[in-house]
Amino acid sequence: MKFFVDTADIDEIKDINDTGLLDGVTTNPSLILKSGRDIMEVTKEICDIVDGPVSAEVTAVDYDGMMREAQVLAKIADNICIKLPLTMDGLKACKALTSEGHKTNVTLCFSANQALLAAKAGATFISPFIGRIDDMSADGMELIGEIRTIYDNYDFGTEILAASIRTVNHVKEAALIGADVATVPPSTLKALVKHPLTDKGLDAFLADWAKTGQKIG
Ligand code: E4P
Repeated sequence: MKFFVDTADIDEIKDINDTGLLDGVTTNPSLILKSGRDIMEVTKEICDIVDGPVSAEVTAVDYDGMMREAQVLAKIADNICIKLPLTMDGLKACKALTSEGHKTNVTLCFSANQALLAAKAGATFISPFIGRIDDMSADGMELIGEIRTIYDNYDFGTEILAASIRTVNHVKEAALIGADVATVPPSTLKALVKHPLTDKGLDAFLADWAKTGQKIG
């Protein structure tokens, strides 16, 4: 499973990228607002740090406007992935941009039928929003499973990018179902390594090691 980080915070991206475990980044207009940065500047900086795909979202809602914005965003760097909303205009733009050789991420997916359309439009990634579905007392993970089945039935190459992840259990369940990618907030990504028995075990080993009086090297 690939890990993307869901943020436009440069310090967080650098920190996680330094681990060597980061495969890409997703941003959206709300995350750009949170960063307080200019979209072109901050996206360029992110692309300079991370080798993998960096999703940058269009804000136009009509096909022509999306295509115009996509050309501007695509010029930022080779690893830009154009993020488009799951609307008819978004799907049309996805089809056109994919045919031109751009990477695309169709976002705001809340149903299996929407994911089917995105795959038919040639999307590189489909982003089902798990947390926002859970927020409505439904089961976001069930949607990931449905999309996995449909994509496997027809050998669609579109990658399932589990988004709107809120917990470490979301990451585990998405991995068990077979999501190709999880885009995860920095704090949740860092929490994946935590286990109290790891900390306890390490403390015990270090205490015993000190008693040996030895050094390695
Ligand atoms: C995905 O690409 C989105 O940026 C993100 O995962 C949305 O998450 P949220 O529902 O926590 O805003």
